[in-house]
Amino acid sequence: PADVGIVAMELIFPSQYVDQAELEAYDKVAAGKYTVGLGQACMGFCTDREDINSLCLTVVWRLMERNSISYSSIGRLEVGTETILDKSKSVKTVLMQLFEESGNTDIEGVDTINACYGGTAALFNSVAWVESSAWDGRFALVVAADIAVYAKGNARPTGGAGAIAMLVGPNAPLVLERGVRATHMRHVYDFYKPDLMSEYPTVDGKLSIQCYLSALDQCYQLFCSKIQKHNEERFGLKHLDAVLFHVPYCKLVQKSLARLMLNDFVRASEEERSIQYPGLGAFKNVKLEDTYFDRDIEKAFMTLSKSAFEEKTQPSLLVANQVGNMYTPSLYGGLVSLLISRGAQELAGKRVALFSYGSGFASSMFSLCVSLDGNPGSPLKRLVDNLKHVKPQLELRHKIPPEEFNSIMETRENNHHKAPYTPQGSLDVLFPGTWYLDKVDEMHRRSYKQV
Ligand code: ACO
Repeated sequence: PADVGIVAMELIFPSQYVDQAELEAYDKVAAGKYTVGLGQACMGFCTDREDINSLCLTVVWRLMERNSISYSSIGRLEVGTETILDKSKSVKTVLMQLFEESGNTDIEGVDTINACYGGTAALFNSVAWVESSAWDGRFALVVAADIAVYAKGNARPTGGAGAIAMLVGPNAPLVLERGVRATHMRHVYDFYKPDLMSEYPTVDGKLSIQCYLSALDQCYQLFCSKIQKHNEERFGLKHLDAVLFHVPYCKLVQKSLARLMLNDFVRASEEERSIQYPGLGAFKNVKLEDTYFDRDIEKAFMTLSKSAFEEKTQPSLLVANQVGNMYTPSLYGGLVSLLISRGAQELAGKRVALFSYGSGFASSMFSLCVSLDGNPGSPLKRLVDNLKHVKPQLELRHKIPPEEFNSIMETRENNHHKAPYTPQGSLDVLFPGTWYLDKVDEMHRRSYKQV
């Protein structure tokens, strides 16, 4: 099949958030640390009424409803997550409840796990299935969801939560470009979850940033060299219409776009450097691996890349700024943000690069080619129109004071994995149609209901 890629998307996020400026005051840190230093406005969070299963039930149900897709038209369903409630039973099997009425049990795929990368692995697997001899003509459904929570302290403001569902099939409006994908994987303890009784990760913040930036360098260089094989001209940032990143927090993404320009600078010839990067001669001998925390280089390339950032990346940060790091859905929340910010007609025919990073670590850079037709009635226009609720829904959320947010986090902390358990969180605040945890019985069996 030709043009395999994303046919439809659905994004959900919590109905409650904490304001990052209020959190700065509550945490007694300098004003501006979270809002300016990290670039975050709000952080979405869930009460004990929502868990990884309920988020995935909600996002799949919504995607199917909004796009009028029949449950029997799905031949593969795969979940990427790092929010683990069960060491054996997959979230995918929980989602099979939604398919019961249709009678469709012939659905391949289970869960895929590695920090924030699982969603990308699930997407790659699903595209490969459609392109393979095992394909039976039906759609694949990729779900990526997480509840990102940190223990009290400096990492807590980089949390978030959400879920994305992506329908994958042929003749898609967002096509995964073949032959240019670049991957870089290594063994590092930068962020991991060794304590199976806790929702919180063990994290070395500075090391995780260094790993993220080094993975970005490696993936970008390899991605460019793979594309370059088909071209005469040196491939670089100027050939990409949009660049999307996994978003731990928005400021790191702005630094990352600047870093791609630094990569272009390092790869350029002496002559290209003097023309395209005037005044930066002093940096001509820099080694990328020496520059992760180099203030002078960061400042110079942040300034130089400002307009490129505004054009290629900023439109993708809407959801990340408002909800925070959603882990596996973070990159795809960026794609949704780009689609709703720019619109179908403006994006038609464009090439979008995406950088996925999951600690530990696994990373890839790949690209989407947007179909040429963004006019009314086109598949691209339909995909974008079916996301137009996202912005108004962000406005419908409830702002919760930091004290209350803190006590909700404590409730989660104290009851995570408890059985039997009846959740305490209010149902009134949930968006209509949301699936929620009704109870956990004495055998740890979880049951769900819908608002
Ligand atoms: N006004 C403006 N900016 C400020 C202010 C202020 N009043 N105070 C501090 N800042 C800036 C700092 O200068 C810094 O910016 P810089 O990085 O450009 O220098 C930024 O705010 C953050 O301040 P730090 O002191 O560096 O923050 P801290 O070390 O306390 O925590 C960290 C930041 C490490 C990101 C932490 O939140 C964390 O561990 N998060 C989880 C790990 C993470 O997200 N890693 C990223 C990749 S891996 C993944 O996705 C999980």
